[in-house]
Amino acid sequence: MSNADLFTPLRLGAIELPNRVIMAPMTRSRAGEGNVVTPLTAEYYAQRASAGLIITEATQVSDTAQGYPNTPGIHTDAQTLAWRAVAEAVHAEGGRIAAQLWHVGRISHPVFQPGGALPVAPSAIAAQGELYTGDGMKPFPTPRALETNEIPGLVKAFADAAKRAVFDAGLDGVEIHGANGYLIDQFLRDRSNKRTDRYGGSVENRARFLLEIVDAVTTAVGANRVGVRLSPTGTFNDMADSDPLALYSHVVQALNPFGLAFLHVIEGQPGHHMAPPEGAPHVAAELRRLYKGPFIINGGYTKEQAEAAITAGAADAVSFGEPFISNPDLPERFRAGAELTPPDRSTYYGGDAKGYTDYPALETVDA
Ligand SMILES: Cc1cc2nc3c(=O)[nH]c(=O)nc-3n(C[C@H](O)[C@H](O)[C@H](O)COP(=O)(O)O)c2cc1C
Repeated sequence: MSNADLFTPLRLGAIELPNRVIMAPMTRSRAGEGNVVTPLTAEYYAQRASAGLIITEATQVSDTAQGYPNTPGIHTDAQTLAWRAVAEAVHAEGGRIAAQLWHVGRISHPVFQPGGALPVAPSAIAAQGELYTGDGMKPFPTPRALETNEIPGLVKAFADAAKRAVFDAGLDGVEIHGANGYLIDQFLRDRSNKRTDRYGGSVENRARFLLEIVDAVTTAVGANRVGVRLSPTGTFNDMADSDPLALYSHVVQALNPFGLAFLHVIEGQPGHHMAPPEGAPHVAAELRRLYKGPFIINGGYTKEQAEAAITAGAADAVSFGEPFISNPDLPERFRAGAELTPPDRSTYYGGDAKGYTDYPALETVDA
């Protein structure tokens, strides 16, 4: 049990949060030419600066990391400079912001790859389903399995992106995207990882890629500015594992010695689309018990459920995705017990200010 509530300040490593209402990372596909974020994105995040911490939309660490149209990167100088303007806008409003670093692995298509190459993945296994390419829906291609000697280059891409985010762009930290069926998650879980080298097979081997990235990123920018996101029971992007509890128990215990700023776990509330599938184990409570640092939970939480989770000690903070899209002042609305504006799903991905920066804050609602 804990006496804390959603408005009790919290320290995540080097980052001091005035509240525990965290903005979950959300892809909005509004980057411009060269996957550079625009001033509109700076405005969008600055509007949400009252979040305890903003975690940005997933951001590419290299030119092979992309799988959707208009998602931003942080591997070129132009991209980094544009993120600097975002960080400055959020800081000017008194906020805190960490970049979510991703590589999509097999959740891509040659149209997003340099030279039209195949996407890379732990194993040459296509995800079931289709992806949006900007030119209609296409089946996921069968990716090319990475050679063992290519892995250090990918690990380094995460560390370089982290340095750009923290030292060049001035963000407060980074979150390593180990969730939702993207490259790191593809290594972790045995439905997508059939490797026979030291990155496949046993739980220890499948966790190795993530742990090497964590080691490199924490060495690069300091563990107190680094978080990790995991989705142990998520099925998005055709994911599954034969024994999530064994796998993720190992992962979080191996993360303990790094002393990270936070661990961010997705396990949906009952009925939420990110809840564990029917009959599958729920693992978040056990991971909370095993993990020794700050723990953020996510997945369809209401204010009341979030408060209950914090009071029960099930998490130190809760992140909110969709509610933050349509309520830029979500912490204030929670505090005031105000009604929430429902989001317009048709404007989630792509487009301009509509459904992005035009949701009102409370005072303008009342005016
Ligand atoms: C439009 C949209 C984009 C998302 N993009 C990302 C992303 O880039 N990275 C990520 O880890 N999760 C992403 N998610 C998942 C959210 O971070 C969150 O886990 C999910 O929405 C459940 O939380 P909620 O019920 O509070 O929205 C996205 C969700 C939405 C709705």
